[in-house]
Amino acid sequence: MSNLVDALRERRTLSDKGLRELLESDDEGLVEALHRNAREVAVEQFGKVIWLRALIEWSNVCRNDCLYCGIRRSNTNIVRYSLTKDEILQACDLAWQLGLRTFVLQGGENPPAAEKLTPVVAEMRASWPEAAITLSLGELPYDTYALLRRSGANRYLLRHETANPAHYGRLHPAGMKLENRLACLRSIRELGFKTGTGMMVGSPFQTTDDLIADIRFLESFRPDMIGLGPFLPHHDTPFRDYPAGSADLTLRIYSILRLMLPQAWIPATTALATLRPDGRTAGILAGANVVMPNFTPVERRDSYALYDGKSRPGAEAAETLQQLKSELDTIGYHV
Ligand code: 5AD
Repeated sequence: MSNLVDALRERRTLSDKGLRELLESDDEGLVEALHRNAREVAVEQFGKVIWLRALIEWSNVCRNDCLYCGIRRSNTNIVRYSLTKDEILQACDLAWQLGLRTFVLQGGENPPAAEKLTPVVAEMRASWPEAAITLSLGELPYDTYALLRRSGANRYLLRHETANPAHYGRLHPAGMKLENRLACLRSIRELGFKTGTGMMVGSPFQTTDDLIADIRFLESFRPDMIGLGPFLPHHDTPFRDYPAGSADLTLRIYSILRLMLPQAWIPATTALATLRPDGRTAGILAGANVVMPNFTPVERRDSYALYDGKSRPGAEAAETLQQLKSELDTIGYHV
């Protein structure tokens, strides 16, 4: 059966039927072959090297009301915060000193505040000319994307969340449309950002057909980066009682995407590591090649809970980084 995997590796594509088999099969040998081939392709491309990105959760203020997300506007049980410019620059400084060369500013969707980040981005660019600056700030007007790009940001992450418009409608408030999300992604790319997108695995109402549509979308859009992790319920959202997505399925999709898009940057995400203690190493052994350690000031982390179980008590960035390096060491990888 692993000729399916050979075909995918060789042709970098597969029929819907083949994809369904890889997503649903309970043949352990097949799944092992899938992960092994993906791992080999990742090592051919990148060596046993994992790229680190410093995640800075700059604000949890959000105008949006996504039904899965803990920082949705309707959640009145969290303390809203935005980091000051100095806090952001301090987090970057620490990350740079610890050897990280990419800063990721992520936050709730808040267009006026995003526009006000322009001078902060400009200062980051001036202070660290060689760093990559990645933004993940949701759907913004074209002009705001353009301003941020001109001030020195060079990458943007905006997950499509699901490529099925009807499913998209069930995950998001009335009025939010997949079409708009895709238009934003096209603008972002047109402005010269390296572009990342992706989806949650196991979000409520998701079917295998939806996942196949997601994989097809990624195959044709060819993002530079692919963010994907399992859905995890958050107790203050309408999806509180839905089950978490599957780690096993998430890992299969990492592998499928690695074989389709050998050069993509695929992080082993925090959501996966929340679901499974060995999520990061498992992700890497399935073909992921990026990890995003958290550089948000420790006292803000609790307020940036997109899902339950995310914030673990207190570890400072430096400590987390040390732990991560020894984790990688156990599987023969390094940063
Ligand atoms: N479970 C998993 N991932 C989530 N995200 C938001 N809420 C959740 C959740 N409950 C993901 C979305 C978003 C990214 C920043 O976090 O995919 O794009």
